Amino acid sequence: MALKLTFAGKFKFLIWITTVSGISVCCLAFLIFAFFSMRAQTYEEKVSIGEIIADNLSAAVAFDDAASALKILKSMKADSEIALASLKLVSGETFADYVSEQGASEAVKLRSIALSDNIFHPNHISLKNKVSFEGKTLGTLYIVSSLDPIWNILRQYILVCILCLFISSVVLHFLSSLMLKKLIQPIIVLARAASDISTSKDYSIRAEIENTDDEISLLKNCFFEMLDQIQKEIAIRKKTEDEIKHAKELAETFSYSVSHDLRAPLRAIEGYTNVILEDFQDKLEPELRENFNRIIAGCGRMNSLIEALLSLSRIERTQVKSEEVNISAMIKEIDSGLRWIYPDRKVEFSFVANAKVKADPQLLKVALENLIGNSWKYSSKVEIAKIEFGINCVDNKKIFFIKDNGAGFDMAYSNKLFGAFQRLHSPREFEGTGIGLATVNRIFERHGGKIWAEGAIGKGATFYFTLPESMD
Ligand SMILES: Nc1ncnc2c1ncn2[C@@H]1O[C@H](COP(=O)(O)OP(=O)(O)O)[C@@H](O)[C@H]1O
Ligand SMILES: [Mg+2]
Repeated sequence: MALKLTFAGKFKFLIWITTVSGISVCCLAFLIFAFFSMRAQTYEEKVSIGEIIADNLSAAVAFDDAASALKILKSMKADSEIALASLKLVSGETFADYVSEQGASEAVKLRSIALSDNIFHPNHISLKNKVSFEGKTLGTLYIVSSLDPIWNILRQYILVCILCLFISSVVLHFLSSLMLKKLIQPIIVLARAASDISTSKDYSIRAEIENTDDEISLLKNCFFEMLDQIQKEIAIRKKTEDEIKHAKELAETFSYSVSHDLRAPLRAIEGYTNVILEDFQDKLEPELRENFNRIIAGCGRMNSLIEALLSLSRIERTQVKSEEVNISAMIKEIDSGLRWIYPDRKVEFSFVANAKVKADPQLLKVALENLIGNSWKYSSKVEIAKIEFGINCVDNKKIFFIKDNGAGFDMAYSNKLFGAFQRLHSPREFEGTGIGLATVNRIFERHGGKIWAEGAIGKGATFYFTLPESMD
């Protein structure tokens, strides 16, 4: 499990590790220095003792008095550090030998140290002194001195160093806590304020931070200035949004009431024209009758336009529901309806079965009726129309599409497709109001989805759309 440290924790750890490393290096340097200086001192002491003893021994060796030589060697007992003193004659024979009480257990080791060429050993110093009488070398005095006292002192020094480290860690803890209060606390307060702002989206939150005339104050001032700016921009955006919303509501009410109110006079024109046609059927000139029929056809077109406009404004007013809808079944039902209306059309229809989405069933049906209706309409001049409903998966997201092999359209005008009253085909080619795709676009927008199209003249069109996975 990774240990997560707070900023304050990291800061404290950094101070601690820096200080402890510094103190440790100093302690180590001190211990090394102490060891070497104590060892050098011991060496010098033992060298002078060795010289004195070697001098004293010369007479005993010259007169072959081993008992006196041993007595002189034993006099070294007074120096507890001397573990072994051995006098060897030039012939290699041991003349006198002394091993201290402490050294008795490791006498063999001490003898091999005495004979080695090195002076310094991990726990001992070995010295050699010539024993001569009247200029003639009679033998060699080997002295092995223990370094145990130095190691004991060093052990005590190490304990003192550890104690120092412990005490400085405790002092450091208190000192860094104090420093934290002054130095880090403002940053922590600022970070908490930033976190509160981002969760609550309340840009008026400000943290109480003392002015310290340093980078932290600069950070605080810049942060608060940014918040002021954001607040101002939000206020402006909200005002603009409110204005747009208000204008949209006005336009919706206007278009709804105009469309609604236009129906009655339109019905009157259509009705009275029909009455004239029926009442004066025989008396009317054929040309006049034709004109009256044009008026009725015009009224019919205007009626479809009004219906389409009313349907568009109804979409704005409807609350969008979120239910599971079997979109495949819905499309199949719409297709069956169209087959019933146009029994003579040859349309090959293929679709992905059982595709499910979360959407408002009524609104989705209106959108699909428009899309499938368009596919049928714009492929009506093709011998065998082919319409397909499918799904592409891109980045784990479903993109639905409805494709046909009809008249297609010029991609250069594709941005106009979804605008109200925008048509890329003339009424002579294909009848229509130009409101269908505007309605479809609005329906997908209100679901939080998207619609776009691809096509080419004479090569059919494909309408792609997405719906959010969940609308809750
Ligand atoms: N499947 C399609 N194939 C070719 N063009 C299409 C297709 N669907 C829509 N369009 C083009 O987009 C325009 C707008 O469509 P729409 O809003 O449904 O109006 P309408 O169908 O009443 O003309 C159509 O006039 C047509 O030019
Ligand atoms: Mg249409």
